[in-house]
Amino acid sequence: MTFPSSNLSIKTPTVSEKLQPSTKKRPRAITEPAIPEYLQRVYWWAYLHPNAVRLFEREWLVNLILWGNYSRLRDAALAELGATIQINLLQVACVYGDFTLRIAERLQQPGTLGVVDVASIQLANLRAKLPAASTAILHQQDSSALKFADASFDAVLLFFLLHEQPEAVRRNTLAEAMRVTRPGGRIIIVDYHNPKRRNPLRYLMKMVLTALEPFARDLWRHEISHFLPATNTPAALVKTTYFGDLYQKVVITKSA
Ligand SMILES: C[S@@+](CC[C@H](N)C(=O)[O-])C[C@H]1O[C@@H](n2cnc3c(N)ncnc32)[C@H](O)[C@@H]1O
Repeated sequence: MTFPSSNLSIKTPTVSEKLQPSTKKRPRAITEPAIPEYLQRVYWWAYLHPNAVRLFEREWLVNLILWGNYSRLRDAALAELGATIQINLLQVACVYGDFTLRIAERLQQPGTLGVVDVASIQLANLRAKLPAASTAILHQQDSSALKFADASFDAVLLFFLLHEQPEAVRRNTLAEAMRVTRPGGRIIIVDYHNPKRRNPLRYLMKMVLTALEPFARDLWRHEISHFLPATNTPAALVKTTYFGDLYQKVVITKSA
């Protein structure tokens, strides 16, 4: 299957490019999406700075940030896809750790895997993690304005992306995920959720998220369905919560 998209390949610099002074910027390809304002302002330290990738690309650290729930949440998302993946799957946004590797391991013909991220550094990091023989196609695109045709995928994955986006961007990301999913296909979301009042981490997480992740508590205030496009009522929406409701998995089936 081919996707009518702007696939910006991850290029190795030529010798002359390597020899250019570091102050000289290479011109950006016309189709390269701009890094969103919120990503530069709020999350530069986590995703855009070269040291960010060096620091955070450690599974134990990602697991610590998720209070030991990384593998549980990763496996909850993977369980929706089954032991073998033979569908056209899109993962929207790269993820630290082995999430994409686990998906790639399950991929079997005629299944395909596309991964979108707006940051070239994240796509390069993912390419380096994937085995050379991996057939995954990496696309430098903005989740809120995907370049794929309608109904290109059987399923779309959003793993801890929505809480990082301002509401308007989050709404567009969900609308785009719905648009590129085929009728009857699924959107699988794993993200934060409003923890139970008796969850002992509730007040600590409130402080942490307020300080570091200014849009995250939108997902405490509203269900994911609140951000879905009004024009596209899902056929089904199933929510499962984890760890005293601090996390949620939402599986949306697009109406046929
Ligand atoms: C999936 S989220 C968070 C994942 C999780 N915290 C982890 O373990 O990595 C982080 C990724 O989302 C990407 N991202 C953020 N906004 C985006 C957008 N509008 N379009 C595409 N990718 C985006 C960032 O570049 C980053 O690679």
